[in-house]
Amino acid sequence: MKNSAKQLLYSFVIVVAALLFVLSVKLRFAQNYIWLLEILFTSIMLFAVIRIWMLHKQDLKEKKAASPDTKPGICLMEHAHQLDNPFRKLGHNAGRLFKKYINKGDTVIDVGCGTGIFSIGLAKMVGEHGRVLAVDLQQGMLDKVAEKIKGSKYENTIELIKSGVESTGLTEPADFIIAFYIVHEVSSAENFFKEMHSLLKAGKYLYIAEPPHHATTESFAEMITVAEGCGFEIAARPKVIMGRTAVFCRRN
Ligand SMILES: C[S@@+](CC[C@H](N)C(=O)[O-])C[C@H]1O[C@@H](n2cnc3c(N)ncnc32)[C@H](O)[C@@H]1O
Repeated sequence: MKNSAKQLLYSFVIVVAALLFVLSVKLRFAQNYIWLLEILFTSIMLFAVIRIWMLHKQDLKEKKAASPDTKPGICLMEHAHQLDNPFRKLGHNAGRLFKKYINKGDTVIDVGCGTGIFSIGLAKMVGEHGRVLAVDLQQGMLDKVAEKIKGSKYENTIELIKSGVESTGLTEPADFIIAFYIVHEVSSAENFFKEMHSLLKAGKYLYIAEPPHHATTESFAEMITVAEGCGFEIAARPKVIMGRTAVFCRRN
């Protein structure tokens, strides 16, 4: 039997046990042993709730194991819709956030692009002679970006690149890199910043933003220290809604 069917069955058991519980109290049958019935029905309900929760956990584990692109701690495809939330787009707008760092004709890396909330905005800014390298670990995320740009002129500007777990595999020098909501997901922040340093042209900028619920003030400060140790220096600390943010300049 499928887990979803089992969960439905246990939900039914909870409803029946709850009804019997109420009935036994209301109709006052087995008056002398009412406490026994209370214990029995409560135990049945508790058991069913625990089974539903365990089945849910098992489902999640199987889903993760089934997806070859995932690793612990990354934002999975089932949460992809949260990245594209229309309210988020009001504050996280590529034009407003990155305008001053991008020129026409630039090559921009959108590392951990996810569903591509910024990719099209970036493509508009670099123009037809520029390039946006939209990079992600999960093919499913890249497919979402592909769907968005299908048949549009941005297909020529945005290149979708499947990253490896330890390295993006990119070699092309970039004029600007954005790493939005991704540093807390990488296996090693140090390796990540070293790679970004090697990809960025000297004097150019790396923009990082982290969600406050995943990066505390302390852990974000630690990320900054690691980035500085990899050859970056802080150029700005822009204020961004739902983001701890830093813009780094590659020193040499
Ligand atoms: C929380 S999402 C953010 C997506 C997007 N930047 C945004 O702001 O909506 C993080 C994304 O980074 C990707 N990711 C995590 N580790 C990565 C890595 N080492 N290389 C490339 N992408 C990675 C995940 O697959 C996920 O799509």
